[in-house]
Amino acid sequence: MNKIPVTQYTEAGNEMKYLKQVIDSKWLGGGPFVEKFEKTFTQYCDMKYGCAVSNGTNALYLILKTLGIGPGDEVIVPDQTFITPASMTLHAGGKPVSVDVQPDTFNMDPTQVEKAITRKTKAIVGVDMLGHPADWDELNEIATKHGIMLIEDAAEAHGALYKKRKTGSLSPITMFSFYGNKTITTGEGGMILSNDNEFIEKCFLTRGHGMRPEKRYWHDVMGYNYRMTDLQAAVGLAQFEKIETFLSAKRNVARQYAERLSKIPGIDIPMVRPYATHSYWMYQINVNKPFPISRDALATELGKRNIDTRRAFYSVHVQPPYAQKGAFPNSNRCSETGLMLPIGANLTGEQVEYVCDGIEDSARHR
Ligand SMILES: Cc1ncc(COP(=O)(O)O)c(C=O)c1O
Repeated sequence: MNKIPVTQYTEAGNEMKYLKQVIDSKWLGGGPFVEKFEKTFTQYCDMKYGCAVSNGTNALYLILKTLGIGPGDEVIVPDQTFITPASMTLHAGGKPVSVDVQPDTFNMDPTQVEKAITRKTKAIVGVDMLGHPADWDELNEIATKHGIMLIEDAAEAHGALYKKRKTGSLSPITMFSFYGNKTITTGEGGMILSNDNEFIEKCFLTRGHGMRPEKRYWHDVMGYNYRMTDLQAAVGLAQFEKIETFLSAKRNVARQYAERLSKIPGIDIPMVRPYATHSYWMYQINVNKPFPISRDALATELGKRNIDTRRAFYSVHVQPPYAQKGAFPNSNRCSETGLMLPIGANLTGEQVEYVCDGIEDSARHR
C-alpha cells in the first residue's frame, strides 16, 4: 500500500480555472477574488462581515490586538489545542491562562473557565477541537455574566454544527484557518468574522498597514500586512464549492472507523455530544489499557505499514513559554494517549480498512 498521509489536499475542480482568471487579470494581490471569498464564506457561516487574512494565527493576533489585549491582561485558553491561542496572547503582551478540557470531547471546560476568571481576565478563546464544537451556550453565558470578550477559534471546524448553528457564528468574534491541512484550504490563509461592522472595519485597516483606503500612504493607526492574495482566494473559492462533499466524505470515513475501532478494547473513538455535528478535521483515537501497546508504539507499528499518524497536541501548560502549575488531568490524558489517524475527503474505503487492519495487527503481533 502506498503511504497514507494523515491529511491530504483534495482538488475540488475549479482551482486551475480560477487561478488562470487571477493571472490573466494581471493583478495577483488582494482584489475581487478576496472580496468574493470573504462574502461567500461569511454567508456560509451565517455571519455579516468577514476579513480574509494571511493565516489563522494572524487572524487571532489581529483580533486580540484590535480588542486591545496587552500587558496586564489575562486571556483564558484551552490546555488542549494547537498553540495559537496561547502564543498569540503572549505575543500581544497578555498572559495566557490555560484551563483543563472536558474528558469526552477535549474541548475547553466551562466550569474551569469560570474558576479561572480574575479581575484581569479580558477575553476567552474557545476552540472547536479537531472539528467538534465547544460548549458555546455555556461559554457565552459566562462571558456575558462577567463582561468578558469571547472569541471562537474555529480554525479546525469548517462546517461543524452546534445545536444546528454553524461554527464560526457561535461567539461575537470568530476566526478560521485555511492552512494546507484544513477541510477547505488556500495553502495559507485565515478569516475573521463578526456581526460588528466597526470591529471588522478596524481589522481591514490594520490588515493593510493601517493605511486609509481613500488617502494612500497616510496611516492613522499602526498596522501590519496580513493580507490574503487573490491567488489564495481563487483556490479558496474553488474549494468552497465542494465543502459539503468534502464534509460528507470525511463523515463517512469517521463512520467506517467507528464501526471497526469501537470493537477494539482500549481504543476510544471520538465522542460526539448530542448537540454537535462533528466536521472531523482530524480523527483522533485514544489508546488506553487493555490495548496491549502504547500510543507511541502503535504509531511506530502503523508507520511500518506506511500509515502516517500524528500524536495529540502536547498540553499547553507543560511547554516552556506557557508553563503553568495546576491540575489538568483530561488535557494530560489526551496528550499522552491521543493519536490522529488518516482522514480526508479522498481517503478510500479500502485505505480505511487497511488502517483498521493495521491497528488490529499491531495489537496481535506485539
Ligand atoms: C485551533 C487553531 N487555532 C489557530 C490555528 C492557526 O492557523 P494557521 O495555521 O492558519 O496559522 C490553528 C492551526 O491549525 C489551529 O488548529
